[in-house]
Amino acid sequence: MTGTVELSAAQVALVRASYAEVKRLDQNYSSLFYHRLLEQHPFTRALFPDDLARQISVFRLTIDALIEQLDEPGAWQAGLSELGRRHVNYGVLPKHYGYVGSVLIDTLAEMLGERFDAATRIAWETLYDRVTQAMLSPKFEDG
Ligand code: HEM
Repeated sequence: MTGTVELSAAQVALVRASYAEVKRLDQNYSSLFYHRLLEQHPFTRALFPDDLARQISVFRLTIDALIEQLDEPGAWQAGLSELGRRHVNYGVLPKHYGYVGSVLIDTLAEMLGERFDAATRIAWETLYDRVTQAMLSPKFEDG
């Protein structure tokens, strides 16, 4: 089965703890993430509006909500599927998801240093993989 955001209870705890830590830092991870993305994958510059402020904020709010609902399997399937569908219209291709995931996870790792250990990285990779599958899957029909 693809698309459902499912992580083990231990992975949910690792993602939540590391995310809470990164949000306690003064630097906004989402802002750093977008700057790294544009730097490492310059083609993405043309996809986003000149002013990234709104994007930095909505991306962060989306991740916040996702992490809050991580232990409710399926709660995000329909929303992520819709979000993914909108991304097709933004010019995003399936292969771009890998670039974004690497830059995002590397940004978190850099900000948390040794506190971002191997198990935490695997938990984030698992989460990102599930989110990607959900965003690339056909629309989920309720009921
Ligand atoms: C975890 C995966 C992702 C999440 C949670 C996410 C989240 C969002 C959100 C919340 C928006 C606001 C617009 C809307 O809700 O439709 C958005 C827009 C956008 N995203 Fe993503 N995104 C993800 C992956 C990607 C990837 C892989 C790309 C490829 C570069 C990308 C590029 C864009 C672009 C170009 C826009 C439109 C900007 C604009 O014209 O205002 N996103 N994204």
